[in-house]
Amino acid sequence: MTEPFFIGIDGPAGAGKSSVSKESARRLGFGYLDTGSVYRALAWHVQSGGASTDDADAVLAAFGTFAPTISLDPDVRTVRVGNVDVTEAIRTPETSAAVSGVARVLPVREKINALFRSLVAQSGLPGVVVEGRDITTVVAPDAPVRILLTAHPDVRAARRSAELGDSDTAAVAAAMRRRDASDSEVVDFLHAAPGVDVVDTTDLSFDQSVAAVLTVIDEKTGGR
Ligand code: DC
Repeated sequence: MTEPFFIGIDGPAGAGKSSVSKESARRLGFGYLDTGSVYRALAWHVQSGGASTDDADAVLAAFGTFAPTISLDPDVRTVRVGNVDVTEAIRTPETSAAVSGVARVLPVREKINALFRSLVAQSGLPGVVVEGRDITTVVAPDAPVRILLTAHPDVRAARRSAELGDSDTAAVAAAMRRRDASDSEVVDFLHAAPGVDVVDTTDLSFDQSVAAVLTVIDEKTGGR
């Protein structure tokens, strides 16, 4: 069986990464893997066991009993940990604040990356769009298509507030800056690594952003 075609897309919150990656996957008939949801699910799992995500040993121990179920179907966003549907719980501000602790534990990152690679390899799909923070640099530095999706911080904050239904854009921007600063201590997702194509969505609509990503994919694959 041939390996699924791997498309890696990285970028900060509010650049349009999830929605654009998902729509690109739909149009290509590919799978979609939201790697952030796995970090979030692990943060939920750590907290549900009564531990803090700032405790690296507890995070590592929790990984031992972490049994996530993630769909690669772009139209199924359900995430389970064991038998519990955590789809909504992992999007709360509490989990968002706690997840950086999980992301800082390097041995856990290595295990999670192995999980991502095997999910793609065993998907049986023609290709998978994988989105996250370190996909183009660590998870799949040899992927045939690697894209960094960016946007100006003001635009990202405005999009995040709209997404969260929170009109306090200044507070959303501050929370976003804190999380970006903390997360980028671990992996650099604000600058493109050599060979990574940048798509800046600051002045692009959603449809234009999808078109820009599909154009890069087309260029890299010779329209195959
Ligand atoms: O994309 P997101 O906001 O759902 O990601 C949740 C958290 O997981 C974010 O704080 C950074 C972390 N993350 C990571 O470190 N590496 C990835 N490949 C994906 C997410």
